[in-house]
Amino acid sequence: MLLIMAVPGAGLLTRLHLCAQRRTRVQRLIVRLLSCPGTVAEDLRRDEQPSGIVETGFEDKIPRKRFSEMQNERREQAQRTVLIHCPEKISENKFLKYLSQHGPINNHFFYESFGLYAVVEFCRKESVGSLQNGTHTPNMAMETAIPFRSRFLSLKLKNQTSEQSCIQSSNQLPPSNRKLFELICYAESIDDQLNTLLKEFQLTEENTKLRYLTCSLIEDIAAAYFPDCVVRPFGSSVNTFGKLGCDLDMFLDLDETRNLSTRKTSGNFLMEFQVKNVPSERIATQKILSVIGECLDHFGPGCVGVQKILNARCPLVRFSHQASGFQCDLTTNNKIALTSSELLYIYGALDSRVRALVFGIRCWARAHSLTSSIPGAWITNFSLTMMVIFFLQRRSPPILPTLDSLKTLADAQDKCIIEGNNCTFVRDLNRIKPSGNTETLELLLKEFFEYFGNFAFNKNSINIRQGKEQNKPDSSPLYIQNPFETSLNISKNVSQSQLQKFVDLAQESAWILQQEDTHRPSVSSNQPWGLAAILLPSVPNRGSLTKKKRKRSANERVKNLLESLKSNRTANFTETNEKRTISTQT
Ligand code: GTP
Ligand code: MG
Repeated sequence: MLLIMAVPGAGLLTRLHLCAQRRTRVQRLIVRLLSCPGTVAEDLRRDEQPSGIVETGFEDKIPRKRFSEMQNERREQAQRTVLIHCPEKISENKFLKYLSQHGPINNHFFYESFGLYAVVEFCRKESVGSLQNGTHTPNMAMETAIPFRSRFLSLKLKNQTSEQSCIQSSNQLPPSNRKLFELICYAESIDDQLNTLLKEFQLTEENTKLRYLTCSLIEDIAAAYFPDCVVRPFGSSVNTFGKLGCDLDMFLDLDETRNLSTRKTSGNFLMEFQVKNVPSERIATQKILSVIGECLDHFGPGCVGVQKILNARCPLVRFSHQASGFQCDLTTNNKIALTSSELLYIYGALDSRVRALVFGIRCWARAHSLTSSIPGAWITNFSLTMMVIFFLQRRSPPILPTLDSLKTLADAQDKCIIEGNNCTFVRDLNRIKPSGNTETLELLLKEFFEYFGNFAFNKNSINIRQGKEQNKPDSSPLYIQNPFETSLNISKNVSQSQLQKFVDLAQESAWILQQEDTHRPSVSSNQPWGLAAILLPSVPNRGSLTKKKRKRSANERVKNLLESLKSNRTANFTETNEKRTISTQT
């Protein structure tokens, strides 16, 4: 017998032990080649996670809908959806039959994250209310449950029958690096490798649904204070550049609440709400986030590790949503970031090469520790995406239009000013002419490294609004103009040494790819090649080499490297070697 209960808090369940798969010869070789700590190699040694079982078909689709349309549709779906923590052994048919008492189900899926969870989307919103009315708060033997009515529920079996479970679980994690390497080593071309990487890492339909559902659950909690609020996902969850496992950036939108008081009324009267005033927008933001943070901490089912980071440049509440496994950042008064996400969504949808290249570059940067999940002097994924967009604007003919040209295509509906910043650009994808450029991903990958390996970072800034290099307005090592707040640099945090590391690695990767034009290892040789080769740890003595390198012109460096590597490269890929130790000494 099935019984649904409200979830009193976060329940810790035993993690599933997953069998490591038998290693093939290629895998063994790759593990030997990639044994440097702090890199892809380190991750490679971890046990393999199961790969996605559910094929959604979402992977190959490039969104053509307007961003706002897509967001509204997904939000409405999420409002008809519940999240249910299930017993390990459950009959899917009986479970669905039981829930169907409350109304027809549109779709559902199961996933595992410290236990088994079901995401169930009803056809009608009323079904959720009906299900909640039949749900009760649990009686705890030792603790007291704080009664809280949400759409995060727990299914209990009244009688412990031994149900035969044969549930298909949707995967919410990216493939292990070992699996990825295997896949890309067997690909037929670098284009194929980049497309494989994209397919394996991009957010699945289920993962996207889970992200919108999590926002919707948080919106219910925030609605206790602000009934008209909307919690919207932004950043990589929605800009088409998100990778499975990326954080969930949320924006608490109070515009609806604010607009209620500014709506025009007829006649000579104007009614206003009595409100409390504070000296600045920033203080208002801090106060709002402070109470929402408290509320999530005390009453939010599954919200753990709540941190209020209110003194940051952009105040936020950070927490883990345990059931979905998402690390969440909740902000408010951050509308420009939502607009940036919309702009990236458009760029990602305009040409199928954009996302493949961005995923490849992000993965390359992560593999070489150029990016990090910890804030610091590193380049961020957002900055890297801007660099790829800029590079694609610089191709001949351009693959992507400049932001200024997207602005000229805008109509009256697209007009948008946020805090005095002009955020106008065309929102309808069908009004943007596709590029006539037919360059392959392989060429673009090489040229990307070549371009930024030789970019005059010391004097030029990157600017996707105009799509051309400009003089840097200050001495920051890396200057990437914020597309909307044009006086700001989005990579102000990047140190000279991190930038130099990026440049050195870009030069090295350009060289490796160039080399392969003449000496591409055959598939049967079991050697990492193409994308796999540039994800490998770099040479151990690069630091000392860098100083010498800086003194020479790029061409001279490449020539010298070529000569020394020709003789060393093959030898250093021998099976007795623990590391990839291409010597670049000249
Ligand atoms: P992930 O690394 O996959 O999380 O990528 P992300 O794009 O989600 O980056 P992040 O979570 O760091 O930031 C979320 C969003 O905030 C970005 O997509 C941008 O829209 C915005 N953002 C991040 N950093 C900056 C910045 O330095 N300046 C501005 N203006 N916006 C930023
Ligand atoms: Mg993010």
